Amino acid sequence: MKATLRLCFLVALSFGLVAIFIYITGVSRSQVESRFVVTEGDLSALRSLQSGFRQCVKANGLGLQAETGSDYCRVTLRFPSDTVPKWKDPKTGELEGLSFDFDLCEAVAAWEQVRNSTTVLTKEFIDSLPNGWKEYAWRRINKGNLLNQCENKTLCMEKLALVLPETPPYVPRQFGRCAVIGNSGDLLKTNFGAEIDGYDAVFRENGAPILNYTQYVGRKCTFRLLNRGSAKALDKVAELDDTGKEVLIIKTTIHDIMNKMIREVPISNPVYLMLGASFGSAAKGTGLKALEFALSICDSVDMYGFTVDPGYKEWTRYFSESRQGHTPLHGRAYYQMMECLGLIKIHSPMRTDFNRKVNWLPSQTTLNAARMASEKLLRRVGAGISDPLSACSIIKKRGKAKTPSTPGFRDAATEHQKYVRGATLYPLEHSPGHGMLCVIPEV
Ligand SMILES: *[C@@H]1O[C@H](CO)[C@@H](O)[C@H](O)[C@H]1NC(C)=O
Ligand SMILES: *[C@@H]1O[C@H](CO)[C@@H](O)[C@H](O)[C@H]1NC(C)=O
Ligand SMILES: *[C@@H]1O[C@H](CO)[C@@H](O)[C@H](O)[C@H]1NC(C)=O
Repeated sequence: MKATLRLCFLVALSFGLVAIFIYITGVSRSQVESRFVVTEGDLSALRSLQSGFRQCVKANGLGLQAETGSDYCRVTLRFPSDTVPKWKDPKTGELEGLSFDFDLCEAVAAWEQVRNSTTVLTKEFIDSLPNGWKEYAWRRINKGNLLNQCENKTLCMEKLALVLPETPPYVPRQFGRCAVIGNSGDLLKTNFGAEIDGYDAVFRENGAPILNYTQYVGRKCTFRLLNRGSAKALDKVAELDDTGKEVLIIKTTIHDIMNKMIREVPISNPVYLMLGASFGSAAKGTGLKALEFALSICDSVDMYGFTVDPGYKEWTRYFSESRQGHTPLHGRAYYQMMECLGLIKIHSPMRTDFNRKVNWLPSQTTLNAARMASEKLLRRVGAGISDPLSACSIIKKRGKAKTPSTPGFRDAATEHQKYVRGATLYPLEHSPGHGMLCVIPEV
């Protein structure tokens, strides 16, 4: 009897708790939901983005056409039917297709986030990330599996020490006009050298030489993005710029061989690791990583030596025998999308006019409104809230001593720092809703 009563009591209690739970979550969920409500205004912003985008691709895409329609986000970029694809997927043996689907909403939301975040790996980031050393740092060390989840943190820190600044070495908008230089053989058809040297910062890739090619690619070196292969030959790569000041940014893991070279071979260049952000398969190439890095620290980004113009014969490099590139048409379509979202400007043999205007570019107002609508539609963290830190799903305070110093910044960078209240925003990989990790100053 007693036992039954107690059971009844427990059952009643748990019903009560469940009811309270439903009540609480019900309320908070409806509050959360209301932020994601897509208004008529949002939809109209997406429609005007789509129509502006279509016209922009038509006016600037050298024959590419954008088709929109099936929903508010999807666009298909189509090459003219007489385009002859030349690149075969080595895995399937199939020729590259002539049309590519992209998600404009995803693109405006993701790239705008890049423009306000830090893409260099720092100690502050690893320290602030839950399980930062055990999981994240451990994966960024080549042969890290032997380190058993950084069981010995000192050892892991030693491996990363040479490439791990305490706080970000660069901030958003630190540089004005930037140029990202790809390695395409097309560069030899033009003389972009002097023009390229006129930018505030120049980003190169992997083993791209400068000496003997300055007429085509300029001589200025500010940053160089490296894939695994190039990073293993860090000493050779460092020689490409004789000033020794070029900053080397590695997009893969840190390797014992690299550590040895930084320590023992006289490499004076700063070396950093790039944070992996979440662009899926589109971001695998060094080219896109270079654009991502440039967009995270520059006001404007111009691109040279990436894209194939109509009638291309094969993907070549300017400095070596023809080498297998990858997905040239997909790349060209993706970069065209970026251009028509106002992220970059493309220069190529068929677009040599330095002052070329990207016609029909959707206005900044349209882009902003469409970005905010996309954030709601994609249910991204912080959508519908105007606070600059609303997309932070993890917030940590930074020790006083660690605050990056700001004197000498360009106005645009200082303005941006004010806007984010001195916080550093780091993109989080595989975070639902693309929340960010934010480190805020101690007040
Ligand atoms: C951890 O690694 C450091 C640096 O290599 C070493 O000196 C120390 O003995 C290691 N500690 C343990 C507990 O193994
Ligand atoms: C530049 O050209 C000279 C003369 O052709 C050649 O000897 C040298 O190896 C070249 N240097 C590079 C870095 O390609
Ligand atoms: C990025 O920062 C700018 C100010 O520099 C701000 O106007 C914009 O809304 C921010 N974007 C996001 C996605 O927070």
